[in-house]
Amino acid sequence: MSKKGVVLLNIEKSFGGNKVLKNLSLEVKSGEFLVLLGPSGCGKTTTLRCIAGLEKVDKGKIFIGDRDVTELPPSKRNISMVFQNYAVFPHMKVYNNIAFGLKMRKFPRQEIDKKIKEVSKLLKIDNLLDRFPSQLSGGQKQRVAVARALAVDPDVLLMDEPLSNLDALLRAEMRTELKKLHRDLGTTTVYVTHDQIEALSLGDRIAVMFDGEIVQISNPKEIYEFPSTIKVGEFIGIPSMNFLKARYENGEIFIGNQKFELSDKIRNEIERKKLKEFIIGIRAENIEIYANKCRGSLCSKILLKEELGYTQLLTLKIEDFTIKAFSKAEIGLGIDNYVYIKFREDKIRFFDCNTRKLIF
Ligand SMILES: Nc1ncnc2c1ncn2[C@@H]1O[C@H](COP(=O)(O)OP(=O)(O)O)[C@@H](O)[C@H]1O
Ligand SMILES: [Mg+2]
Repeated sequence: MSKKGVVLLNIEKSFGGNKVLKNLSLEVKSGEFLVLLGPSGCGKTTTLRCIAGLEKVDKGKIFIGDRDVTELPPSKRNISMVFQNYAVFPHMKVYNNIAFGLKMRKFPRQEIDKKIKEVSKLLKIDNLLDRFPSQLSGGQKQRVAVARALAVDPDVLLMDEPLSNLDALLRAEMRTELKKLHRDLGTTTVYVTHDQIEALSLGDRIAVMFDGEIVQISNPKEIYEFPSTIKVGEFIGIPSMNFLKARYENGEIFIGNQKFELSDKIRNEIERKKLKEFIIGIRAENIEIYANKCRGSLCSKILLKEELGYTQLLTLKIEDFTIKAFSKAEIGLGIDNYVYIKFREDKIRFFDCNTRKLIF
């Protein structure tokens, strides 16, 4: 299978007066599985369609491998696209659906047959080749669409929310299979989704997109642990990252009226960066909960307790802030009781109050 990277350089795209892509640059490495993640309407599909050549960009350049494809039609870009709504041809049997791209490219009949056997086996639909799409389940249709896309050995595979029409169980199953498929084939892939779980589990790297711009691009762990902005921290992870405003005063850190004890290392960093007011970010699993007051703990009130089976999710009020925390052990306290919490220090992130960007 061929492997080529994709580079988008300062892409701009408007529809009417609506600027949808704003100076967007992105590099997808050869063989990489890159997930483009963002809320509905942020411009993900438009970005994919620009890579595919289905939309013409207003400004900027697109490269596939070292080829400038900016002015090339879709058929000359050697890409394949898989859509959310399957887009298999209803009047063609599975075999002919998969053969479609190969026939267009005028491959010899025998080679087409060989290729179809190969990809249908890979997608576990080799027993369905004789069926019409109406005789397939949603999951099977999507397998046909992926098989058709891969049959032509594309340099780049583009997938636009391919799993979102499937039910939750099937979605999880297909996710695992797509991951395996990519591991086996190594096709450069750009995968669009608004589902952060999908993004975290599938992506070698994730590009987080808001409002026509990419705000962070990194591996899933880094994005989860070090969101570049408060908005990224809110968007990624269930529950969202917690955020609390804090201040540094006379050598002490306060959240509201409560003193917040942190190591000298962090206090020195705050000193060095001359921070006065900042926002603390901490994830629910990095908060420890105690029934009794202990050294360095903060007092908070239980607003809500949700049983999740393997753990409990507590909604807590601390000063003016509402946060969520997982409680590993049953704490034996209910709503309106007070608990004492500590934040795992190596997991605390500091954000700028004005720019809302990560400081450290
Ligand atoms: N062909 C089009 N004509 C006009 N507006 C469009 C067109 N395609 C997309 N848009 C607009 O561009 C914005 C981004 O759309 P899209 O790329 O589909 O977002 P996403 O895939 O992230 O949900 C939306 O505001 C959408 O209404
Ligand atoms: Mg879309």
